[in-house]
Amino acid sequence: MAGRDINREDALSRLDHKHACHILLYADSNAKLFGKIPIKHIVLMQMRFDGLLGFPGGLVKPSEESLEAGLSRELQEELGAAVPVTADDYVSSHLAQSPPRLILHFYSKKITEAELLEIERAAVSNAVDHGLEVLGLTRVPLYTLRNGGGLPWFLSHSFISNSRAQLLEALQRLGLVSPQTLKEAVKKADEMRH
Ligand code: GTP
Ligand code: MN
Ligand code: MN
Ligand code: MN
Ligand code: MN
Ligand code: MN
Repeated sequence: MAGRDINREDALSRLDHKHACHILLYADSNAKLFGKIPIKHIVLMQMRFDGLLGFPGGLVKPSEESLEAGLSRELQEELGAAVPVTADDYVSSHLAQSPPRLILHFYSKKITEAELLEIERAAVSNAVDHGLEVLGLTRVPLYTLRNGGGLPWFLSHSFISNSRAQLLEALQRLGLVSPQTLKEAVKKADEMRH
């Protein structure tokens, strides 16, 4: 997905643009798939109403609320839980290719496994958008199985806007997947998509 990154100051000076904020929430975990494959980290994404994968978050109104307050409001709607977000969690801003005049702000935040499990429960039992804007929360498989299962298949799905690039950048930057594993997973995923 084309478009380009811009800095936060430049982004916020564009009063004629729409602004949206989304966040990657993650936690460390000792859990093992099939009792043997360490999952290491839990990363949350969601299946959106349009059938595309994306991160929780949404449109904010910089004239009425800070980016972080707007993101927290969206998280309350979509996750049914209070997730305090601060400027420390800010990662980047992206000028979308389409639609025109949309700026996409991205955040990431580490939480505890217990907090993450509580968010997963609340997303079903408490979120007003559950079953509407949000069809379900999903975890991102970070491992690659011998047959290509795991991260490669996950990356072969369709993603909203530049959220796939946001995911890949964050997995690398946060050290959640080794550079070599990530590179191979992207290559396999691209073969699957063709
Ligand atoms: P409404 O309450 O119905 O307005 O939806 P929303 O406020 O939750 O907005 P949404 O989350 O759909 O985000 C607004 C726009 O941002 C979308 O139309 C997409 O173009 C884009 N978008 C949505 N999710 C993501 C994401 O995870 N990453 C990026 N980069 N863009 C996204
Ligand atoms: Mn089983
Ligand atoms: Mn949303
Ligand atoms: Mn929303
Ligand atoms: Mn909204
Ligand atoms: Mn809404």
